[in-house]
Amino acid sequence: MNFDLILKNATLPDGQTGVDIACADGLIVAVERGIHAEAKEIIDAEGQLVSPPFIDPHFHMDATLSLGTPRMNVSGTLLEGIALWGELKPVQSVEDIIERAMRYCDLAISMGIGAIRSHVDICDDALKGVEALLDVRKQVAPYLDLQLVAFPQDGVFRDPTAKENLMRSLDMGVDVVGGIPHFERTMQDGADSVKFLCEIAAERGLMVDMHCDESDDPLSRHVETLANETRRLGLEGRVTGSHLTSMHSMDNYYVSKLIPLMAEAELRVIPNPLINIMLQGRHDTYPKRRGQTRVPELKAAGITVGFGSDCVMDPWYSLGKADMLDVAHMGLHVGQLSSRADMAWCFEAVTTNSAKIMGLKGYGLEKGCKANMVLLQASNTIEAIRLRPNRLAVIREGVVISRTSPNHPKLFMENRPDTLNPADYAPNSSDT
Ligand code: FE2
Repeated sequence: MNFDLILKNATLPDGQTGVDIACADGLIVAVERGIHAEAKEIIDAEGQLVSPPFIDPHFHMDATLSLGTPRMNVSGTLLEGIALWGELKPVQSVEDIIERAMRYCDLAISMGIGAIRSHVDICDDALKGVEALLDVRKQVAPYLDLQLVAFPQDGVFRDPTAKENLMRSLDMGVDVVGGIPHFERTMQDGADSVKFLCEIAAERGLMVDMHCDESDDPLSRHVETLANETRRLGLEGRVTGSHLTSMHSMDNYYVSKLIPLMAEAELRVIPNPLINIMLQGRHDTYPKRRGQTRVPELKAAGITVGFGSDCVMDPWYSLGKADMLDVAHMGLHVGQLSSRADMAWCFEAVTTNSAKIMGLKGYGLEKGCKANMVLLQASNTIEAIRLRPNRLAVIREGVVISRTSPNHPKLFMENRPDTLNPADYAPNSSDT
């Protein structure tokens, strides 16, 4: 058989070592030890980690890299961010959005991201973001799967033309129905918006992903409505609650009722650790709430949880570098997911779990999956989160599409303290 690529001596995310992966015609065709064959390219992984690509299940590509235009977010709050985005929307062009999004996609691909679910604001009668990101989706398809969510940023009921714009954007090819019930004028309007949007998704056979209860309000209840509408409409497994930060502040007794309802509805959950820890708890003095939803408890209930990045250099967040390991690192700390099993799970939250949430086909490292992979300069998934290391090779359908040189190999050794020498860490120590 003619192989396009063979990766030799890989460590897999499940801990298997010394594995060879052979690829042909864009697919993984063999995963076993000791593949001795010719290929167009052979890469020696040298025992380092090979993972399926990182998946970012929650992002805002229409706003990314817009930091400082037209001005900075002075308070750093979510609400000023929304107001600032409202100032930028009317003055940016379709070309501006495409140019920024394409730059971001280049960065994301080099960081090993293979798929992004991006919300796109449809509260703009010109639907500039939709037009731009549909174009970007097509342009980046050979390198990156981009899934779009019709997101009524200003509220599907609160904004006078959002309902119509949402339908138009779905007709234009946007993939997923979004929402923001906690931003509607009243709790009742929010609940009605959840019902309305889930019914649209059911009629059109689409998935749902709502910004839901993104506040510190312990009495926000939209995720309960989302779970109930999911069950009522038979949408189990197709509906995601993003953020759910209010769950952090809810009464424990109520949560003990809520989580089983979410599990029953097979609701998916996407916390956005970097953004949640940055934006929530802003009305608190001390103690200050963390604002990340209850990840350990949701995980224990069997609910699929994936971590999203949400924002990079935009009106809400002025940092970020498309590194899903930064996201996993923060989610791990804020959720106190410190056991070995929990740390390894955090890697799944930015890979397999998020792929499941997005409904990606052919994702994984088994025979028959798409030959999409990342070779990391780390020995296992926990070390990858600890170091957030170089992506030595990013592979898409059996072809290397990005390479990064290794650095400081002696820093990349885990559980081998006897090999550490202070001289290795001296300034200007040379790469070997
Ligand atoms: Fe978001």
